Amino acid sequence: MSKRFYLTTAIDYVNGQPHLGHAYEKVITDVIARARRSMGEEAFFLTGLDEHGQKVQQAALAEGKNPQAYCDELSESWKSLTQTLGLTNNDFIRTTDTRHREVVQAILTKLNNEGHFYQSTYTGFYSASAETFLTEKDRLPDGTFDPSYGTVVELSEDNYYFRLKPHQQWLIDFIESNPDFIEPTYRRNEVLGFLKNEELEDLCISRPAARLSWGIPIPFAPEYVTYVWFDALVNYISAPAGRGDPVVNTALGLGTGSGPEASLWPADVHVIGKDILKFHAVYWPIMLKAMGLPLPKKILVHGWWQKDGQKMSKSTGVGVDPVAVINEWGLDAFRFYVVRELAIGPDGNWTDAGFQSRYSAELANGLGNLVNRSLSMLKRYRAGVIPAQSNELAPDAERVVQKTIAHLADNELQAALHDIWELVNRANQYVDQTAPFKIAKDPAQAARLDEVLYNLCEVCRILAVLLSPFLPVTSPKIYQQLGLPESPDTFDLAKWGGLQAGHTIGEPAALFPRKDVPKP
Ligand code: MSP
Repeated sequence: MSKRFYLTTAIDYVNGQPHLGHAYEKVITDVIARARRSMGEEAFFLTGLDEHGQKVQQAALAEGKNPQAYCDELSESWKSLTQTLGLTNNDFIRTTDTRHREVVQAILTKLNNEGHFYQSTYTGFYSASAETFLTEKDRLPDGTFDPSYGTVVELSEDNYYFRLKPHQQWLIDFIESNPDFIEPTYRRNEVLGFLKNEELEDLCISRPAARLSWGIPIPFAPEYVTYVWFDALVNYISAPAGRGDPVVNTALGLGTGSGPEASLWPADVHVIGKDILKFHAVYWPIMLKAMGLPLPKKILVHGWWQKDGQKMSKSTGVGVDPVAVINEWGLDAFRFYVVRELAIGPDGNWTDAGFQSRYSAELANGLGNLVNRSLSMLKRYRAGVIPAQSNELAPDAERVVQKTIAHLADNELQAALHDIWELVNRANQYVDQTAPFKIAKDPAQAARLDEVLYNLCEVCRILAVLLSPFLPVTSPKIYQQLGLPESPDTFDLAKWGGLQAGHTIGEPAALFPRKDVPKP
């Protein structure tokens, strides 16, 4: 059984409602998953929820609910978000799933037996909200801790630690000899800088259940629960383990099954935000090495969105509700904007004006207008019947197809949209240059009109194929309007000449209705 292209998102804390940042990460991962499938690969896309730990316990308590009931309730709105966003995830993991708990406990037992942990007493500072121990180094110049840590308390407690130090040089060597492991490069350099300049502190992997009960009990010390990050990172292998992944289950001594989607590990891409880089690029590789597992092939790190130049936050009410935007403007408008506006890496800024301007310039007047006028002219002048093949725009289309697929193979989604819009713009310009509505009046130019109409309709078809990973609603609609029964979700269909002479198209209809936005 061949290994699938396996890609993941971070799993979200279930302590509130989803916002733009969460939706963004899922959309870009979905575009990558769909693009891989369009390239003919079998992709397996995992997303899910991080349900244990202090944050969730506190949020549940604040609502007077027991944590499990609280998670069960909220998980429904997160699951429904996957549908609202049109995600093609193959699984949805919750860290409260039995399948996950069993794998976490098996790992803890194995690593403990093999001497990776030790017990020690910690005396020092602790931030409950960040779930982190702080040291003197974390103090600001005025002696306080950053307000983002919330209340910092001094405590003394016995815990289990995971030895990281012995792996530090190995990790540096690994990252240096695998330049594609962390992308973009400036994030890779950030990790290398940190690893070369600071000695790794061992990782505290337990929390006394007396202080924090909401977690996975440590099998060899049931008075403790597992540190939420140790628990959460394991989701990337517990989902494969549950399916009988041969690589994971052999290393962990679990039974290997033969499920149809079993061969997943190592992951091809972990998509994460910049704030959780250290967990994924330092702790996770060392955990995997200790387990005897190969490392993921790539950690792809995206930036953070702001709204109108401000950090989004529940307390200040600054934010973007992806569901509200989708309800008003449609799913594809949302997916298009977030991918087109921001490359994977830098930070972005959502403005409603920017969103609306891309909607009207690129979707309504660009793509929508092209498809609508091309198909409407074919209807009007040729009763919707495709004329003989003509190849005038074939070189433009072929160039764009090649570039787009190359960019998608490198996860450069924004660049791929740039490429695709070159073709949209080229075809719109072709309409202006060839003026089919004029030549239609001159019977002597009937053959020329045939050529123009073929080129336009064929470009629309190829655009539907290229856009399929990005615009999962619009792209099948274009195929439908062209009267084509297949689904445009494979790049094999992006070859020039797919429309056959004599084929009758369906009914054209506006793809992106123009909207009059009230001036503020
Ligand atoms: N539960 C951890 C991840 C565990 S992964 C094993 C977590 N959860 S989170 O809900 O806080 O964040 C989930 C993802 O959303 C992270 O990758 C984070 O970077 C991303 N984002 C959260 N806010 C964001 C923005 N404002 N903009 C873009 N992405 C952001 O961390």
